[in-house]
This record gives sequence, C-alpha cells and structure tokens, in this order.
Amino acid sequence: MTALILRRLSDLRAKTAAWRRAGETIGLVPTMGALHAGHLSLAAAAKQSCDRVIVTIFVNPKQFNKPEDLENYPRTEADDAQKLAHLGVDLIYVPDPDQIYPEGYATNVSVAGSITDVMEGPFRPGHFDGVATVVAKLFLQTSADKAFFGQKDYQQLMVVTRMARDLDIPIEVIGCETVREASGLAMSSRNLLLPKDRLAKAAALNAAMRVAAAKASAGGAWAPLETAARQTLAEAGFGDVEYFDLRCAQTLEALDSPSRPARLLAAAWMDGVRLIDNIEVPQLNS
Ligand code: PAF
Repeated sequence: MTALILRRLSDLRAKTAAWRRAGETIGLVPTMGALHAGHLSLAAAAKQSCDRVIVTIFVNPKQFNKPEDLENYPRTEADDAQKLAHLGVDLIYVPDPDQIYPEGYATNVSVAGSITDVMEGPFRPGHFDGVATVVAKLFLQTSADKAFFGQKDYQQLMVVTRMARDLDIPIEVIGCETVREASGLAMSSRNLLLPKDRLAKAAALNAAMRVAAAKASAGGAWAPLETAARQTLAEAGFGDVEYFDLRCAQTLEALDSPSRPARLLAAAWMDGVRLIDNIEVPQLNS
C-alpha cells in the first residue's frame, strides 16, 4: 500500500499531533527524492526503531550552488512512492515550496567552524547553510524523535548533528552505513545522471580510496598515497579530483597518518557528475 502523501504543513502537523497523542514515536528520513537502496535502508532503520516513519522529499533550492545542478537533479516522485510502499512508511511529506520558504522568508541557519570550512564547504559555497536551514525546518515541522542520515554524506551528517545540538532541537541524529553497488560505488541519486558504461568506471573512486586507506593504515605517508590515487583516478577517466583527504573522523582536521580515528573523504568529477564518498581508515597498528 502506498503511503499517505501530504504537501501542506498544517496537514502534517495534524497527523503528527494525533500520533503524539497516541504516545507514538516518530522517525524521519529527509531526502531529495530519486530514492535508491541507500534511502530505503534509512527508512527500514527508522521503521525498526520508531512507531511511525516520515520520509520527506524536497529538492531544496538553497543547497544548490549551481543553477544547472538544481535543474538537472532527478525528480521521480511517483517511483519514489512506489519504492516506499512496502517498507511500512506512514507518511511521505512532499512540501510545496512555500511550506518551506514562504513569501518573505529571511532566516538562514549556518554552522560555522572546522566542520564546514573544509572539503564540501569551499567547493560548494552556501551548500551547508542550505542543508542546515532546510533540515532544521524539517526537524521542527515533523517534530520527529529520531532522524536518519546516510554516512555517505559524512560532512553533512556532522553539520546536522551540530546544528540540532546547538539549537536544542530534541531529536536524535543517527548516521547509517553507506549502501554500495556490488562494484563498491556508493549509491547516490547522482549516479542516475551517469551513462551505464560510466557507472562501472565510477567504481574506481571507491577502489582507489580502499587502496590508499589500507596503505595509510599500514604506515604509508599520506602525501604520496594521495598523489598515486589522483593518478589512478585520472587514468580511470575521472576529471577534476576536488579533494582526496585523510582527516580526523571527529574534527575533520587534516592528518598525515591515521594516528587517531580517521576518515578518507573524496570528491571527484566524472562526465560532468560530481561524486563523493568516504570510508573509515583503520588506525595505525590496529
Ligand atoms: O542528503 C540529502 O538528500 C539532502 O542534503 C537533505 C539532507 C535531504 C537536505 O535537503
């Protein structure tokens, strides 16, 4: 059975108020649609730990720093609703744009500091403000108890966690494992924009990351590992590699070696499509 679809905040609030009166907990999965197995795994995780599940679909204009990226973003609402039908999702909230940004809307939520100053921050100016703003609104509009995000957008997960804490929004932010194709390619709505033959090549990103992470964990110095990975990616058909960074998993500070819990994060372009990925890097001597 397809879930109820609501587009107005007043309708959403009426529904969540009834659930609350019945003492039910609410899990939220915020998305921009074009749902893939990664999103579905978030909805399944929400269903496991909450009585009610809301999936939101809103292609948020404020987080796109390039108009053509916003325009090309896949919009597949009917398919998305079909995919959620068997997961026990109670409600799909697809807000009309004025339910998020009404006439005269003037407020920006901005997370400052080391978690937004690096990687996606400088490459996508304004992106995290757009994410923090819309996610704050979705947290407040749904009054959810728990929100589920993929670790694929690792920096985003840190930003929304910080934002919820800083604004005292009573919600638990839960990061779930990245879901991958058999090739290792991280699932992403953007993969839909790649021609089929490029999809297989795009898996080279994760492969190069795994090689570099294993060598770093075995004591290899980071700079030559990064250089070698960039070379491998160029040979695999990637264009610009915006970053290929070893960073502290908690602060995102750059590291020369995984001397503490570390993450390898990368962004690279293939055929006009920007792909990102990140993996855990086991600590030295662990
Ligand atoms: O990860 C996404 O799809 C978006 O950034 C999010 C969290 C739904 C906010 O628009």
